[in-house]
Amino acid sequence: MDVQECINSRISSRLYKSDPLPDEIIRDILNAARYAPSPKNRQPWRFAVLTGDEKAVLVQKCQDGLQNHVPRTKYLMDHESASEIHTFHIIDKAPVLILVFNAFPSKQALNSQNPHFDFLNQQAIGAAIQNMLLRATELGIGTLWVGDILSEAQFITERYFSTGELVAGIVLGFPDGLGHPVSRRLLSELIVFSGGQR
Ligand SMILES: Cc1cc2nc3c(=O)[nH]c(=O)nc-3n(C[C@H](O)[C@H](O)[C@H](O)COP(=O)(O)O)c2cc1C
Repeated sequence: MDVQECINSRISSRLYKSDPLPDEIIRDILNAARYAPSPKNRQPWRFAVLTGDEKAVLVQKCQDGLQNHVPRTKYLMDHESASEIHTFHIIDKAPVLILVFNAFPSKQALNSQNPHFDFLNQQAIGAAIQNMLLRATELGIGTLWVGDILSEAQFITERYFSTGELVAGIVLGFPDGLGHPVSRRLLSELIVFSGGQR
């Protein structure tokens, strides 16, 4: 599979087989993250790999947290909760959840000389995550990038990487079925060319 094919065929998998993922596959996917670019080569990403009981603790905590959400408008409450309920169910069923942390939490950025310190670190972590998704795609492993776990960021960070800050979760597993690609905006909607001759 070449890079273009890999980029185009990656989709978010939301149905997984229960089969465990061999450790060497998990390490291989995490190894791809290490090769992402980062500001001043800071490599701000850190990872925790959750399976079995530990993943179940996290799912339970997230599900319990849904009961305590401060209601906003009724629409938002129903709509967002439905999405989160679904995400937590997917995490529950899949064999692996990788937690992605920023080793330089935003509050440290206040002490930095560089006003963009945190923003740049976050960009690099996004690049590391995309590397993981692409390598997993190449290996035939399904992935889902999840933000919904951020509702329990404090609990998760204290439990797994107390000096850092939770950025995202990545669900991994053998996909059950092919999944559906979703639509993309046209290139012409996204770009402006400016300047002279190309
Ligand atoms: C930062 C981020 C957070 C996301 N959080 C969730 C999530 O919590 N639950 C979920 O089902 N999908 C989540 N997604 C997946 C997006 O819904 C998905 O990438 C988007 O709809 C495009 O579909 P595709 O990944 O199949 O191309 C997230 C994606 C990103 C980049």
